[in-house]
Amino acid sequence: MNRFDAKIMLEKLQNKRVVFVGDSIGRNQWESLLCMLSSAISDKNSIYEVNGNPITKHKGFLVFKFIQYNCTVEYYRAPFLVLQSRPPANVSSKIKTTLKLDQMDWTSYKWRDADVLVFNTGHWWNHEKTIRGGCYFQEGSEVKMDMRVDNAYKRSLETVVEWIHREVNPKKTQVFFRTYAPVHFRGGDWRSGGTCHLETLPELGSSLVPSHLWTKYSILAQVISSHSNVSHSRALDVLNITHMTSRRKDGHSSLYYLGPKGRAPIHRQDCSHWCLPGVPDTWNELLYAIFLKHELNRTLNISNFHSQV
Ligand SMILES: *[C@@H]1O[C@H](CO)[C@@H](O)[C@H](O)[C@H]1NC(C)=O
Ligand SMILES: *[C@@H]1O[C@H](CO)[C@@H](O)[C@H](O)[C@H]1NC(C)=O
Ligand SMILES: *[C@@H]1O[C@H](CO)[C@@H](O)[C@H](O)[C@H]1NC(C)=O
Ligand SMILES: *[C@@H]1O[C@H](CO)[C@@H](O)[C@H](O)[C@H]1NC(C)=O
Ligand SMILES: *[C@@H]1O[C@H](CO)[C@@H](O)[C@H](O)[C@H]1NC(C)=O
Repeated sequence: MNRFDAKIMLEKLQNKRVVFVGDSIGRNQWESLLCMLSSAISDKNSIYEVNGNPITKHKGFLVFKFIQYNCTVEYYRAPFLVLQSRPPANVSSKIKTTLKLDQMDWTSYKWRDADVLVFNTGHWWNHEKTIRGGCYFQEGSEVKMDMRVDNAYKRSLETVVEWIHREVNPKKTQVFFRTYAPVHFRGGDWRSGGTCHLETLPELGSSLVPSHLWTKYSILAQVISSHSNVSHSRALDVLNITHMTSRRKDGHSSLYYLGPKGRAPIHRQDCSHWCLPGVPDTWNELLYAIFLKHELNRTLNISNFHSQV
């Protein structure tokens, strides 16, 4: 496996677009790649957000340009990947929004033609962030009041994988799907005082995370493998990071984040996102290795082609 080399990656990304689509953990990985690539650029002012926006969690999308390479590294917020919008008319008033499990997020036209496309999802597929807030699941014109979150998640992944096969040009675009990154709250969750501070070492034992956390991972693995025999030249590459990431209870922002209001309070720690430099850098090293393998293969095939003519 090749070690990460920012200069080589930027050279390969000349005139290209790298796009991350997903939830805020995807933004975390996007930000990590920005930092990793910028290490090869001495004039940091030559790297800028094209609309002048700061990195905040509320932006729909952010596009950073590396002017010397005419390359952009972009993030689109689409935590469910599929479309969330108003419910059909004339449904129960407890339905505030619906997730259209058979339609992609409305921004998909913006990223379909990227050169490198990195998806992730998972952290919003729970009762808390859907049904509890009045967000129900819809297929066609029908709102499925009794559909379970795991089934909806699976259905949405099928939509994403089918969309990739149908809409993405495999000659142009390398597509990656990063697996679920486990959270590490001790003694509660993010709302009920769960913590992860004072963790200074990775978990070195073997059985690491409660089994319910693996559900997201195994549903994704299932959907992708059931579509992997589709007669299509492209491979969808999986960044299989769940296992290695589950060991890194020591890598979260926890209460060490310094925001405008100071440190996070002890009972509102962040044990989902990651410190940078840190764990998401290793996900990007994996991304780099697979990306480079494809790039080298492509160059090789072109030169084989030339030597044949
Ligand atoms: C810069 O890259 C974009 C693709 O991201 C491409 O459309 C454009 O032609 C490139 N510009 C130059 C000057 O090569
Ligand atoms: C709306 O729902 C009510 C009660 O279910 C029904 O009587 C009515 O015909 C529906 N209206 C439309 C436009 O579908
Ligand atoms: C893929 O496999 C499934 C079942 O394993 C089968 O039904 C389907 O026809 C296969 N598709 C292709 C394109 O081979
Ligand atoms: C993902 O990686 C783990 C080891 O880190 C391995 O046990 C598992 O089988 C892999 N899953 C897939 C679908 O490749
Ligand atoms: C390399 O190129 C060949 C021929 O186009 C293709 O069959 C193979 O899957 C490629 N391998 C990788 C890792 O992209």
